[in-house]
Amino acid sequence: MKYLIFDTKKEASVESYKILKSLIDENSTLGLATGSTPTDLYAEMIADYKAGNFSYKNIKSYNLDEYVGISYEHPESYHKFMDTNLFDHIDINKENTHVPDASAADLELAVKSYQEELNNAQIDVQILGIGGNGHIGFNEPGTSFDAGVHVVDLKEETIKANSRFFDGDINLVPKQAMTMGIKDIMRAKHIILLAFGKEKREAIRSLVEGEEITENIPCTILKNHPSVYVLVDKEADFKL
Ligand code: GLP
Repeated sequence: MKYLIFDTKKEASVESYKILKSLIDENSTLGLATGSTPTDLYAEMIADYKAGNFSYKNIKSYNLDEYVGISYEHPESYHKFMDTNLFDHIDINKENTHVPDASAADLELAVKSYQEELNNAQIDVQILGIGGNGHIGFNEPGTSFDAGVHVVDLKEETIKANSRFFDGDINLVPKQAMTMGIKDIMRAKHIILLAFGKEKREAIRSLVEGEEITENIPCTILKNHPSVYVLVDKEADFKL
């Protein structure tokens, strides 16, 4: 595992894009994340595309997760997030982008078909943020390391943390989500995990410094992955 500390989110994001670019070509498959964490990385991707240095025409992407119970048109849906923060600004073919279909009438079927899609794909680089409780994707503490795609009941702390995107009102935050499982994340060839702010510090400590690999802190499984880059700002650095 490579652990890299930067003064700011911006600096870490610039470096994360350099790492990403060194690991992919224009035919690669990306695993993408949402939330506040990857926004500056996506800005770097857009800027480099606009400068004519990289094309997404043949790139495929798979997103980690999506809320259950809000429409894709909701400004906080992860479908909308991806359009707004990345897809609408690059030349990616939307047919090559995949986000869990969490507002399907038949959720069980949607879970099955996302699992099939993932099984038939090979993600070259998975981008990850991290929850304060160590969740990756929406794999909350206690999730089996063997889990594939599933619907999850979000933990209270996650609902609280994400209420900042829903006018600070926990009642407006969806209580469930559909997520890739730990097993799916671990299949990626390379993983780039970003973490910013002091709320992430303890999770980063468990990931980088701790010795335990436990389902109670889902990110700790990444210790078993052969190619992980962890980039943090100094607030998230556990040595602070
Ligand atoms: C969210 C997402 C995760 C994300 C994490 C951190 O709930 N499901 O994929 O990595 O929690 O979010 P943020 O980047 O907004 O801090």
